[in-house]
Amino acid sequence: MLPFASLTSSRQLTPDIISGLFVAIDNMATIVAEQGTSTLLQDKVVALLFFEPSSRTMLSFQSAAQRLKAGTIFAQSASTTSFEKGESLEDLIQIVNGYADIIVMRHSQPGSAEVAAQVSDAPFINAGDGGNEHPTQSIIDSYTIHKHRGRLDNLNVVFGFDSLQSRSIHSLSRLLAQYEGNRFTFTGPQELWPSSELLSELRAAGAQCDCVSEVDYRDNFDVVYVNRLQEERFADTTLFEANRRKYRITRDNIEGCDALLLDPLPRIDEIATEVDALENAVYFKQASYGVPVRMALLALLLGKINL
Ligand code: NCD
Repeated sequence: MLPFASLTSSRQLTPDIISGLFVAIDNMATIVAEQGTSTLLQDKVVALLFFEPSSRTMLSFQSAAQRLKAGTIFAQSASTTSFEKGESLEDLIQIVNGYADIIVMRHSQPGSAEVAAQVSDAPFINAGDGGNEHPTQSIIDSYTIHKHRGRLDNLNVVFGFDSLQSRSIHSLSRLLAQYEGNRFTFTGPQELWPSSELLSELRAAGAQCDCVSEVDYRDNFDVVYVNRLQEERFADTTLFEANRRKYRITRDNIEGCDALLLDPLPRIDEIATEVDALENAVYFKQASYGVPVRMALLALLLGKINL
């Protein structure tokens, strides 16, 4: 059980809940390593509604469900559902409530997760609502930081390079802002710095926030978290074209930096492949944690395990 029926925002993920979740995630990782599968969710059906492109999130939710022996049903794009016929999200969610025990949804509209969670009788998980939030990714990210750095407080974190539109950056910064002593440096083109609303929210939660056009990665950072420029969310494509390869982690600029290097992926231009061999480049490992994280979430929200 979790103290909420649905997960729509990382604001819900308090340090207490995160600590409990990490134990559940470790237990799921042990199940995968030792047995491969468990019958914990054999009486459950998981609906996976993906109305925006997804590789990691969709596949790891599917893998998580299968490792726990849950059934899965899919709707993969708006064009294969009644959305094309004009059906509302509220109606669709009520229909899916009759078909599944839990709903996972990715949707292009910011705020759609909240709307869906409100009407859903079944537990609901936000797998990304436009440029707003991606709370399950923030669990993966914080789990990775904790596993490799041993703490989630007093961290000096760089976020780049599209903090305005990256839902992964929004969710992780909101999660980390709940811990003591965290300091965030947002970098990238000025037009893609976080919104003033997000900055105010993070500062109000206690995080120190700075925005800069460039950083020297050798400056005492604990974590460097980068995400591609979110091409599909640019109203002005010239802004995207002007910046797409300008901000990039390379061997040259990362040499001597021992910060943990994270990226929710997909990698487009933001990290050169030559960086992959570095010991602190853990983004592929980070992606692999998606399965135990999502196993734990499904089991908790379906009431099969406790925090
Ligand atoms: C992220 C997303 O969908 O927001 N991807 C993911 O879920 N791992 C990051 C991105 O698409 O850039």
